[in-house]
Amino acid sequence: MMNKIIIAIDGFSSTGKSTIAKLLAKKYNYIYVDTGAMYRAVTLFAKQNNFVAKDFLNKESLISNLKDISLSFKFNIDLGFAEMLLNGVNVEKEIRTLEVSQLVSKVSTISEVRKKLVAEQQLMGENRGIVMDGRDIGTVVFPDAELKLFMTASADKRATRRYKELIDRGDKVSFKDILFNVEERDRIDSTREDSPLMKAEDAIGFDNSDMGIKEQFERICALVDRRIL
Ligand code: DC
Repeated sequence: MMNKIIIAIDGFSSTGKSTIAKLLAKKYNYIYVDTGAMYRAVTLFAKQNNFVAKDFLNKESLISNLKDISLSFKFNIDLGFAEMLLNGVNVEKEIRTLEVSQLVSKVSTISEVRKKLVAEQQLMGENRGIVMDGRDIGTVVFPDAELKLFMTASADKRATRRYKELIDRGDKVSFKDILFNVEERDRIDSTREDSPLMKAEDAIGFDNSDMGIKEQFERICALVDRRIL
């Protein structure tokens, strides 16, 4: 009988966490949860209601409207992963824009937001058999996860990957803005007071600046197998 475990993947933005997480979920038939998508959806809600803009954050209004935010995931068979729904509306495309990326770290500093999302994430992992990626999964959401990974890569490599993704889907962005956003999010995510991005003591570090997906995936599968068999 194979054990069902929790796989927690944390790390800086655009380190390929979700690519690895999706591959793992498929191979082991686990649920995949992209927690960044949840923070992005709350940010989109805040933007739509004018609670947040470039140099402005109305914390109190956002906090008092948190109860009106319902988040869910809907599996898309064609894509092979779950898309983010905000109050029943598919927002998968809108939450990936550079504009949302520029606001999300600010919204993610709010403790009330984190409390709501962490509680929902913990419920999703109740029966284990889950791969979750984010910034605080191994430290806060599932400190008892059987496998914790911490991904890093140079800012330049990460910005190059993100730039390609956005250009490929037709967004008009400049490399300079993407690089700035990647570095700015690193800074805010790792210096915020509540649940800053950091490597859990028992997490295994992966620098994938110069490692292909295939090699990384093979190494990580060996780590998973050791824990489930
Ligand atoms: O994984 P991502 O780049 O889509 O995440 C977007 C932002 O959401 C990230 O810059 C910080 C925030 N986030 C967080 O604070 N905690 C998480 N567990 C996941 C994301």
